[in-house]
Amino acid sequence: MLSGVIGTEIAPAPQLFCRMPKVQRTQVGIVGAGPAGLVLSHLLYLHGIESVVLENRARQYVEERVRAGVLEQNTVDLLTAMGVGERMKREGLVHYGIELRFNGQGHRIDFHELTGGKGITIYAQAEVLKDLNNARIAAGCQVLFEVEDVSVHKLDGPQPKILYRKDGDEYELCCDFIAGCDGFHGICRPSIPAGVLTEYDRLYPFGWLGILAEAPPSAEELIYAYHERGFALLSMRTPHISRLYVQCRPDEEIDHWNDEKIWHELRTRLASTNGWKLTEGPVLQKGVTGMRSFVVEPMQYGRLYLAGDSAHIVPPTGAKGLNLAVTDVQILARGFDEYYSEGRHDLLDRYSEICLRRVWKVQRFSWWMTSMLHRFPDENPFDHRRQLAELDYVTSSHAAARTLAENYVGLPLE
Ligand code: PHB
Repeated sequence: MLSGVIGTEIAPAPQLFCRMPKVQRTQVGIVGAGPAGLVLSHLLYLHGIESVVLENRARQYVEERVRAGVLEQNTVDLLTAMGVGERMKREGLVHYGIELRFNGQGHRIDFHELTGGKGITIYAQAEVLKDLNNARIAAGCQVLFEVEDVSVHKLDGPQPKILYRKDGDEYELCCDFIAGCDGFHGICRPSIPAGVLTEYDRLYPFGWLGILAEAPPSAEELIYAYHERGFALLSMRTPHISRLYVQCRPDEEIDHWNDEKIWHELRTRLASTNGWKLTEGPVLQKGVTGMRSFVVEPMQYGRLYLAGDSAHIVPPTGAKGLNLAVTDVQILARGFDEYYSEGRHDLLDRYSEICLRRVWKVQRFSWWMTSMLHRFPDENPFDHRRQLAELDYVTSSHAAARTLAENYVGLPLE
């Protein structure tokens, strides 16, 4: 069944004396309109499965928030196959390598050569979300923004429910399944009864101060720099906009950093002995991001499935967060498809196990990149020497470089 009509109202509730919620029904209720929620919703639509997406923020906020920007080949291929890849193909920047810079010298990791032709695409998460929202709306589907008081219920029964409020009215959305795509701070994960989930959590003793600058990127590919004063990253969004980061304290006050101080730190940490110069320009946006590694096991409870940041967080050094969210929902969509088309739930039952196997490998990679490239406040001179040796090894051994490359471009899906 192709879902033109979704979220069907099945019982207009009497509104005269008591405010009963309006009852609606769908197959999959999706909480959160980030990459996980929207990719899932569109994949389900393509399989003829109904969904309703509920998002507590405004569409404009979600589409303008500065987030990730690196897409693995698998993500690019999926968005293309879903019919939402046209603008990404036109505007995305395809890169076949990155540079690791330390001791003032750059070393290229050649993804193309090391992975048999694979690369990455630079295309902002905000742009991916715009393309997905446009596709969802063109398909006549429901993505409801600015909903309030979202809560999930009856997760371990045959018909879970989502309660929410929109424009002052209360709704009860009856679902076959719920997908919790509402991020690390969302309501889905905490709605699972105590004792069910095991949490694995690791905070890092630093954060990233990031800026978006109106300046042509100073290099064609991303530069990850390890410096005495801490990590720095040169990235980009378009041929005219640079995205840059410096390692900072986890509780850093952004107001203590004026633009000149940020540029000075970037110039120092990214400095190269070969005369390379950092292009500067007006700072359009700036902010501090904390760094954490986090996983919950399992990623499902009853008929609630967690996907993306609601189930796991990676530090941004490996550029994996968005890609991991996309692979979660790719697997989940296959499970729902198998359920609705064949009446089997084998894949749904194994959802958590299949995802977690990949999640942990990506966690390992993100932790490793983070550990190799940052200065730790409690490190001793041995650690510093060891990190330099690690960088030397990764950039001089074909085997080590290949390990980095195959993880960076994305491990294959099971
Ligand atoms: C970014 O462009 O925002 C970006 C790129 C690479 C990373 C993290 C963030 O590892």
